[in-house]
Amino acid sequence: MRTRHFAPALLILALTGILFAEPGDGEWLHKVPPKDRARPNPFASDPDAPVAGAKIFADHCAACHGEDAAGKTQGKHIRPNLHADRVKQATPGELFWLLTNGSLKNGMPPWSRLPEAQRWQLITYLKSLP
Ligand code: HEC
Repeated sequence: MRTRHFAPALLILALTGILFAEPGDGEWLHKVPPKDRARPNPFASDPDAPVAGAKIFADHCAACHGEDAAGKTQGKHIRPNLHADRVKQATPGELFWLLTNGSLKNGMPPWSRLPEAQRWQLITYLKSLP
């Protein structure tokens, strides 16, 4: 009897997590597998990466996150500020995972079509933000 009720209870718990996740609550961080989390940024100390990343940002990201990456709220669309502590504290691997997979349900598209090098340059740029 107890085991029969356990699975549905877990399912309901999981669904509540999905339904109540909102843009900008950092819920995506819980989905990153440990292996991805630990990936180092091969462009972390490339002196050209922040400028290259800023250009890619202007082309693909600024429309939502703002030219200065300070975030935007348009109606019910919340696009978080990327100068925030969560981005500063996230590991490069966590940010790479988010750029690759997106968080589409909350409005963040995946960027797997950008070459890996460009995704890492974006991360170097994000990490250089004041
Ligand atoms: C269509 C709008 C849109 C575009 C374009 C977009 N984003 Fe996002 N982004 C979002 C939304 C919405 C979230 C919040 C997702 C969530 O909380 O699950 C987000 C979250 C993020 C986060 C995590 C912020 C946090 O505090 O959790 C980072 C980092 C990020 N975006 C970087 C980028 C980069 C880099 C690009 C360009 C390659 C980009 N985004 C393009 C809408 C967008």
